Amino acid sequence: MIAGRLQTLYGLCLLLGLLGAPGAGCHHKPAAPKEAVATGKAAEPPAWSAPDTASIAAGKAGDLIRYGRRLISSTSCYFGPKGSIARISNGMNCQNCHLDAGTRPWGNNFGAVYSTYPKFRERRGAVENIFQRISDCFERSLNGHAPDSTSLEMQAMRAYIQWVGKGVARGVKPRGSGLENLPLLSRAADTAKGRILFLNKCTSCHGPGGQGQPEPGGISYRYPPLWGPSSYNTGAGLYRISRLAAYISNNMPFGSTHASRQLSDEQAWDLAAFVNSRPRPSGHFKGDWPDISQKPFDHPFGPYMDSFPESMHKYGPFAPILQAKKDLAAAGTRRR
Ligand code: HEC
Ligand code: HEC
Repeated sequence: MIAGRLQTLYGLCLLLGLLGAPGAGCHHKPAAPKEAVATGKAAEPPAWSAPDTASIAAGKAGDLIRYGRRLISSTSCYFGPKGSIARISNGMNCQNCHLDAGTRPWGNNFGAVYSTYPKFRERRGAVENIFQRISDCFERSLNGHAPDSTSLEMQAMRAYIQWVGKGVARGVKPRGSGLENLPLLSRAADTAKGRILFLNKCTSCHGPGGQGQPEPGGISYRYPPLWGPSSYNTGAGLYRISRLAAYISNNMPFGSTHASRQLSDEQAWDLAAFVNSRPRPSGHFKGDWPDISQKPFDHPFGPYMDSFPESMHKYGPFAPILQAKKDLAAAGTRRR
């Protein structure tokens, strides 16, 4: 009985996926408003853009890429609390944070993944490959467990990520790939200001309690949660305020783009401070940051090389932290 229902569910996810609408059915997306405001800045070089999905080859290799894309856009169909393959994650989709299946400029896209991985990552203190990087997001952003790297699903996600980045030369991180680095504020980000902004600009979709809104049927979210038990954990990338501010600034409220932002940098930092001040699952990973001098300025957990408190690493102001980092590095060079 249950197995039968699951089969139907799986069939539905698969069918909708095959129809080519990323996340359709399991993930409904509101229509994005047309680009609203012109920036008025001088023309910049064009940003990275993803290859056209129509160019994915027919046949087996292409099928693997297409399956990978569906896994990224409709992750919870397969791996969420009601997932058809395994129930190993929190119900979010990769696409909730990697917009348009990881292809949107400044939308935390995968433009520079295939060109830069495997790479040495300070968090792990070792070289990390694409499978390990995907697993990181399963364990942290999806607050769960990753499928085995030999599984069809991991192979498919990797094949898709490789396809997304196929036009980018080895070692290159093109303009508009990943997330932006916003200019730092001279003050600490302000959770009280962030709260007011949140109530005005975010609750219509994400709810007053940041809990999001499930799709009818509850397999996926129409609007994903921003904190609480079903959100990313404290070991996740977005728990660093610079990452969250960058994501919000270029992409939220939903429909905003890099060219049509609706928030000032200051507002994005304050919103990020508020969202990350709310409760969420804790994610402490034993092997993280074996060399504490390499923690990023906004890593919110000590111990640190400097004497600034965790609260300052979490919210800023960051200039004194960056200065201390420089001083330490210079002292290290002198000793050698
Ligand atoms: C809650 C938000 C969130 C979710 C959900 C999420 N990620 Fe991520 N992911 C991030 C953030 C933040 C980063 C780090 C971006 C940065 O620091 O530039 C990241 C980084 C990555 C990277 C490396 C990107 C790069 O340029 O180095 C890959 C690959 C990745 N994620 C894959 C996935 C996959 C696959 C899933 C689903 C199984 C997933 N992510 C789900 C937030 C998320
Ligand atoms: C019009 C509805 C809407 C509004 C308003 C909106 N969001 Fe979102 N938000 C979304 C949707 C939809 C997604 C997931 C996008 C996807 O899956 O393609 C999302 C994703 C996110 C994410 C990443 C996923 C997660 O749950 O952690 C964050 C963070 C976020 N929004 C923050 C905000 C903030 C802060 C505001 C207010 C400035 C805001 N959003 C306003 C619809 C909205």
